[in-house]
Amino acid sequence: RGCKLVGCGSAVPSLHISNDDLSKIVDTNDEWISVRTGIRNRRILSRNESLTSLGTEAAKKALEMAKVDPDDVDLVLLCTSTPEDLFGGAPQIQKALGCKSNPLAYDITAACSGFVLGLVSAACHIRGGGFQNVLVIGADALSRYVDWTDRGSCILFGDAAGAVLVQACDIEEDGLFSFDLHSDGEGQRHLQANLKENKKDHELDTNGSLHGLLPKGSSYSCIEMNGKEVFRFAVRMVPQSIELALKKAGLTGSNIDWLLLHQANQRIIDAVATRLEVPSERVISNLANYGNTSAASIPLALDEAVRSGKVQTGHTIAAAGFGAGLTWGSAIIRW
Ligand code: ACO
Repeated sequence: RGCKLVGCGSAVPSLHISNDDLSKIVDTNDEWISVRTGIRNRRILSRNESLTSLGTEAAKKALEMAKVDPDDVDLVLLCTSTPEDLFGGAPQIQKALGCKSNPLAYDITAACSGFVLGLVSAACHIRGGGFQNVLVIGADALSRYVDWTDRGSCILFGDAAGAVLVQACDIEEDGLFSFDLHSDGEGQRHLQANLKENKKDHELDTNGSLHGLLPKGSSYSCIEMNGKEVFRFAVRMVPQSIELALKKAGLTGSNIDWLLLHQANQRIIDAVATRLEVPSERVISNLANYGNTSAASIPLALDEAVRSGKVQTGHTIAAAGFGAGLTWGSAIIRW
């Protein structure tokens, strides 16, 4: 059995935040942000919006494009690091879509690599598990974990959701040629949002009282990032990963129609494209409008490129995600 991508969709919050808006809350300016990152605008969730509603909207659009009924979906994978329920957000999207067949739905947490991992997981479920229609949704709201006083990181992130429908097909039509996935927990310190813990609350006192077991609730601290290290990691590891995946597929950078990287920084995108000898007109980028939307960035950029007619049926795309974990990986796909 093979699997192919048959639909895509995306959704972004209505609230725009420009570089000039940010310059009113931190010591920065449009020129610095544009030159160093390529970002000009981002969208941020407001009170009446949620990750679930964005993910659902993106998924509905993917199903419409694929002309597949929600009842025919048998797996929903939500790639996110920012679910609204600690236990996972995928079942809420499954419910909101109104899938009456109660398909399996679960989350994949791998930060900005989440969507590529989700795509590969969908293929494995279809090839080995007999699944027919798998929704892969990349959705994140990192704005909820951004330190809005840290000018080194708050300028980068935005919120969004993107989705694709992956469908079983004959092996001749297979749309996932190869992939290459990695992680390195050693590098976690360069990009993290750790659990805030008051150790005292969690200790049982010496009398054996249940004090320590009283519900306290916890939350995560803001994103802490060593931008330079993350930049170096991405520029070093991403081209290697894409080259490996291309080699497995019997391709080179000159054979692909599009390079579609996680949208983190235009200088990272340009450096990877140069290393792979992919000319800029074959590089997909919408970073200027949305910033770094984590697991949503690849399906959001794919959806815009498909709907604008840039990416057409039969085109080969080298997609790569990278980010916290550290995690990184690539997939060579056919649209
Ligand atoms: N506005 C103005 N000045 C700034 C700003 C800002 N927003 N941010 C930093 N500066 C200053 C610094 O204080 C520093 O000043 P100094 O020279 O007086 O000390 C100077 O600008 C240079 O700072 P650097 O941190 O060296 O700037 P750099 O060129 O490395 O750019 C950036 C920083 C944009 C964060 C870059 O390192 C980057 O994009 N890294 C990758 C980050 C990334 O992609 N993270 C997400 C990964 S995906 C995920 O999983 C979430």
